[in-house]
Amino acid sequence: MADSKIQSASAASIAEAAKLLADGQLVGVPTETVYGLAADATNPVAVRKIFQAKGRPANNPLIIHVESDQSARRWVRVDAPDWLADQWQRAATFWPGPLTVVVPRSADVVDEVTAGAPTVAVRVPSHPVMRALLAACDFPIAAPSANPSNYVSPTSAEHVRQGLGDKVAMILDGGECQCGLESTIIRLRSDGVELLRPGSISVEQLRNTFGTVIVPEATPKNPPADGSHQTAPPAAMPAPGMLAKHYSPTKPLRLVENWQPGEIEPARVARITFAPLSETDAAAFGWYRSLSQSGDLHEVARNLFTAIRQADATQCELIVIDRCDRIGIGRAIMDRIDRAAG
Ligand code: TXA
Ligand code: MG
Repeated sequence: MADSKIQSASAASIAEAAKLLADGQLVGVPTETVYGLAADATNPVAVRKIFQAKGRPANNPLIIHVESDQSARRWVRVDAPDWLADQWQRAATFWPGPLTVVVPRSADVVDEVTAGAPTVAVRVPSHPVMRALLAACDFPIAAPSANPSNYVSPTSAEHVRQGLGDKVAMILDGGECQCGLESTIIRLRSDGVELLRPGSISVEQLRNTFGTVIVPEATPKNPPADGSHQTAPPAAMPAPGMLAKHYSPTKPLRLVENWQPGEIEPARVARITFAPLSETDAAAFGWYRSLSQSGDLHEVARNLFTAIRQADATQCELIVIDRCDRIGIGRAIMDRIDRAAG
């Protein structure tokens, strides 16, 4: 084999990955959302390597991944008088799965993980390889998305190799990510939850479970007509990593309504659609991909980051992409596209 660090997932490679992590090294790991850049969350030296490898600002905290809501309890302040036990139980109904919950941290969490914040972001992933890895480790796994800071998140082992191959000891290959977008992040509140980052778990699902979902002002473009939607007070803070332009390809990316063929001719455009174009329409573009045969938004989400990476690698000068309604997973899709468009 060449110098590739990619190892297909097996009992042996998972055991090897657990050993590397215990040894303070970085490993690329599959999750159902995107690939993560993993380190032992209890080892400050290993956690610092994550920030170095990604070029990530030290003030941007990391998510810790645990096997179950029970194993999370050591890392969160269940003993605090204001611990929201009922809200925590409701959040756990989404686990294992693509939901991250921000709660008060326990004293056992190392400062490097939370960037000094009094809270910690916790998630119980559902990917079988990641679950097997967590079972093989006697520590939680800190992992941001396994991309250099500000680039598009990786949804395959090969994407991790391209971006961080020389920074990791190994990449565990668990196939292509099922969701394709990062987890939904919420903060628990006594009166509901606050959305910090839209993801595969939709606001509608959260509303069914928690009642009130506070959505930051900037995100919603289509508030539901029934008024069940509330906006956050102006001081509401998104997840720190959501402040900057993020998820960006190196080429400019634009929503289709912001592009006129007169401006840059179609032959120099990489066109990404959510459902197939006619053959004639498609042929006009320098490069073209449809993310779904039927316009299914879960399929669009799964294929979005791969297509943006592919478009970015073409000779085209501009990426032009479809839009969808900010309903269900459409909210997360549009959030990532808006950020990629900068
Ligand atoms: O799907 C995912 O969440 C993936 C997989 C690997 O689990 N991880 C991921 O991590 O997307 P990352 O670091 O790329 O994004 C995590 C986001 C960042 O925007 C960070 O600022 C925010 O979570 N975050 C982490 N801890 C936080 C905290 N205590 N309070 C508020 N936001 C937090
Ligand atoms: Mg990220």
